Amino acid sequence: MLYLLDTANADEIARLVDAYPVCGVTTNPAILGQEGAEPARQLRLIRQAIGPQRMLHAQVTGKDAETMVREALALRDAVGESFYVKIPAVPEGLRAMPALKKEGLKVTATAIFDTSQALLFARAGADFVAPYVSRLDNIGADGVDIVEEIMHDFKEYGVTTGVLAASFRTADQIRRLAKHGITAVTVTPAFLEALLWHPMTDDAMRRFDAAWAKLTGGRDWTQLL
Ligand code: E4P
Repeated sequence: MLYLLDTANADEIARLVDAYPVCGVTTNPAILGQEGAEPARQLRLIRQAIGPQRMLHAQVTGKDAETMVREALALRDAVGESFYVKIPAVPEGLRAMPALKKEGLKVTATAIFDTSQALLFARAGADFVAPYVSRLDNIGADGVDIVEEIMHDFKEYGVTTGVLAASFRTADQIRRLAKHGITAVTVTPAFLEALLWHPMTDDAMRRFDAAWAKLTGGRDWTQLL
């Protein structure tokens, strides 16, 4: 499973990007809006924080295919080659796909909510499709089930497009998707840290530390060997 950070907070990204196996960052207009900073500068700060190799996903804002393609080219020029343009699952986004692929752009089809949208964008050449799990849950659907359907259909057709699941509220959502081999998940910094934390690990560490302190006074191996 690939892990990406779903945030535009460059400080949080810098804090976690080397501490966790993070392979990229996803943003969208709302996430950039939360930072409130000038978005082009914020993207450059994020690129600086993650380095040139990790994926950086940023969403177009244009309403027609031509504008989307122009934005995508400008974004790639600004943030480098490991850039994935997020194209909304709308008719003009689908119409933009041939030109985007002709220009060699990597594409994440975003705001995906069902298998029909996912299959269309995969067929059009998307590198990732990004279904929003919790937003589906919020309307009474089962977001994890729908993502599993997308992965099932992609497998049926031998589709190589990755499924980058987004919009998470519980670790169980990710655990369920992991059982089906989800390609990637994008989560907030706090959520990523929560995936690592377990109260029983804390308890185990307290017991190890107490036993070691009693035995050695807390010296580490470099001081004992
Ligand atoms: C991915 O980047 C999506 O745009 C984002 O995660 C949407 O999910 P949300 O429901 O947490 O806003």
